[in-house]
Amino acid sequence: MSRLRVGVLVSGRGSNLQVLIEAGRDPFYPARVVMVCANRECPALDLAKKASISREVFRLARFPDRKARDLAMARTLQQHGVELVVCAGYDAILEHAFTRQFAGRIINIHPSLLPEFAGTMDAISRAIESGVAETGCTVHVVTDDVDQGPILAQRRVEVRPDDTVESLRERIQAEEHSLLPVVVKRIAGQVLPLPV
Ligand code: GRF
Repeated sequence: MSRLRVGVLVSGRGSNLQVLIEAGRDPFYPARVVMVCANRECPALDLAKKASISREVFRLARFPDRKARDLAMARTLQQHGVELVVCAGYDAILEHAFTRQFAGRIINIHPSLLPEFAGTMDAISRAIESGVAETGCTVHVVTDDVDQGPILAQRRVEVRPDDTVESLRERIQAEEHSLLPVVVKRIAGQVLPLPV
């Protein structure tokens, strides 16, 4: 069985990366993480290292501009034969030079029920402040319009009156961790690129 080769972009803790790494340990899971790219040093890179997965930091300071950085990252992913790019807590906006090369092959996980709280890095605190009764998480295709690409799957999470950002994040991430491997598995059974 040939398995979908996944590249994961990270900036932070890497808990979503970790669930994909673990899913790929099952030889019958149809995808596996083959490359991890980060825009800074972060704990997610240690998870990749522990799992003996290739990894590289593409710090902006190494490049003349964002376009050059993203082109270098795209080249590295292509050299690793990556067929699907997963943004899992990657906090930089991808340049068109990158999205064009992987059109229909990039997905992102966002901690809200998109289109609610789109284009924000603090979707969880915004959900609490705005007083909504529920929020959740969304996996969507990445396009040049930030957080606007086609939605692939969502999970709902109740917002409780006593929630803090931390308590709500914990429940949203629990849903992310069960949703992301399911969506990646589904994509592995589809013809790529996905419609954008
Ligand atoms: C996730 O909550 C995801 O929705 C958001 O960034 C967070 C990344 O968490 N885009 P982790 O690094 O996977 O733990």
